[in-house]
Amino acid sequence: MCGIVGAVSERDVHGILLEGLRRLEYRGYDSAGMAVRQSNGEINRAREVGKVSALADYVEQNPCKGPLGIAHTRWATHGEPSQLNAHPHMSGDRLAIVHNGIIENYQELRQALIAEGYEFTSQTDTEVVAHLIEKEYRVAGNVLQAVRAAIAQLRGAYALAVLHADEPDHLVVCREGSPLVIGVGIGEHFIASDQLALLPVTDRFMFLEEGDLADIRRDGVSIWDRSGAPVERGVTRFEHGMDSADKGEFRHYMLKEIYEQPKVIKATMEGRVTDSRVLEQALGTGAADLLANVRHVQIIACGTSYHAGMVARYWIEELAGIACSVEVASEYRYRKHVIQPDTLFLCISQSGETADTLAALRQAKQAGFRAALAICNVPGSSLVRESDLVIMTHAGPEIGVASTKAFTTQLVSLLIFTLALARHNGLSEAREADIVAALRQLPGQIDDALALDGKIAELSKAFMDKNHSLFLGRGAMYPVAMEGALKLKEISYIHAEAYPAGELKHGPLALVDSEMPVVTVAPNNELLEKLKSNLEEVRARGGELFVFADGDAELQEQPGIHVLQIPAVHAITAPIVYTLPLQLLSYHVAVLKGTDVDQPRNLAKSVTVE
Ligand code: G6P
Repeated sequence: MCGIVGAVSERDVHGILLEGLRRLEYRGYDSAGMAVRQSNGEINRAREVGKVSALADYVEQNPCKGPLGIAHTRWATHGEPSQLNAHPHMSGDRLAIVHNGIIENYQELRQALIAEGYEFTSQTDTEVVAHLIEKEYRVAGNVLQAVRAAIAQLRGAYALAVLHADEPDHLVVCREGSPLVIGVGIGEHFIASDQLALLPVTDRFMFLEEGDLADIRRDGVSIWDRSGAPVERGVTRFEHGMDSADKGEFRHYMLKEIYEQPKVIKATMEGRVTDSRVLEQALGTGAADLLANVRHVQIIACGTSYHAGMVARYWIEELAGIACSVEVASEYRYRKHVIQPDTLFLCISQSGETADTLAALRQAKQAGFRAALAICNVPGSSLVRESDLVIMTHAGPEIGVASTKAFTTQLVSLLIFTLALARHNGLSEAREADIVAALRQLPGQIDDALALDGKIAELSKAFMDKNHSLFLGRGAMYPVAMEGALKLKEISYIHAEAYPAGELKHGPLALVDSEMPVVTVAPNNELLEKLKSNLEEVRARGGELFVFADGDAELQEQPGIHVLQIPAVHAITAPIVYTLPLQLLSYHVAVLKGTDVDQPRNLAKSVTVE
């Protein structure tokens, strides 16, 4: 989704802006641009459709240099991807802005501004904001007051950065519903929608709160809260290693991130489990009190994180004996719900900035839920800051749009949470010890699953010329099948649908023929025999089966049935291990098809608009 970078310095900042945009590429975008105040006092603006490299090539030929600048990657919402719609937007030739988010009342503002003589060159909601600030500037005489007056008239979600050619020593920024961080340098300051963008220049950040307005100068930063009162926002250091956002020896970020899973799963367990127990206090002060009285869990998430929640529901109901509901945030937030007493509201999000998930959380807080727990991968994100209790997944920055290591570390965190919750609800010490032992075996088992990479690459060839596929699973393996199908459709653009295997004969069986590969995850659990009957149903219709199965499952390779043996795993942790071959399968299919694996078309990593 859209990305913002900005800098106020003594040195030329165009290289910092370009590198920042490159680091935001993973979020998904369709055009890029920058505006820099040059030493002659003019603003030079460059905008290109397509990749940041196209913008870099352009500014190589048409220098865009100066010590004050803003830049942007755009993911189209209002108006097609085009140079005219790309940011920065300007009002006249003295004021430039970049914007993330959506202005809901832009049509009425646009009409009013047109009536006053402003001319629009784009279809965007952002240009409305540029002219509105310009209009207020005429009254206020300075940018800070102009922005303050303009945002009072906006409805919607936004992070804005504004520069004015007549005020060369600062940027004015604000946030309402879209993330914005300030990077603290020495004698210079930066801003970005994501701290990753600024890692080459600083590791110290201030996070703006909702409603904050800030004045960013070389030598300092002033911040005001929504009420206009001056506030301090603490400086925090970036936690992950600087190089973790590099591709290293891997061809794609996605592959690198798949291979990082043994390491990050270990990191996510560190300090949270002993040999035989979950350390409840490691889940945060107050965790014990909070978990003791939970009678119902409501999980909210989107995309891959939603699938993690679906798996957790099986665990929570089986191990803790507590009712659990799971819903995608965009549905949950727009319907009436019945809230059970003592319900824990649990949001799962890699980025912690997904607009629908945050909106659902804010609604839940107003509705009076017992407490809000977040499972999240980005320290300092809005979700982390707004939740009562947080379990951080230590996956490190995830760059590939298709989520991999964030998903498995979410699952590990959810299982740790489930064990802590279950202990208050009669889970025996022996059962807890058994599952903790299974958790501790995960890094090794995932290494074993990764060793199947070559065989999976071979299998993937069978998908090259297919247009559709089915993914089947039962029990907690059903959401794993859903995640496998999501991965395949996201990056290879093959239509993939997941079904609980028992539902096959209620519809999808009608689709099965030799052109419809059927992928199945079959660990050796109590549902295996039932699953085998479902596989027979597919074979009888000529469907080609790709089965990821336990060695003990006694499924034999034969014409039309490809069996890949997965090392034996505990039934509870099986969803985590069985995710790996499905990630690798979709990766290899996408590579064979030549798609943009890390930045699939039309998708964004961090969906900060509704
Ligand atoms: C986008 C991403 C997915 C992600 C989903 C939810 O669709 O492409 O990978 O699962 O958003 O994001 P979150 O950051 O809330 O987990």
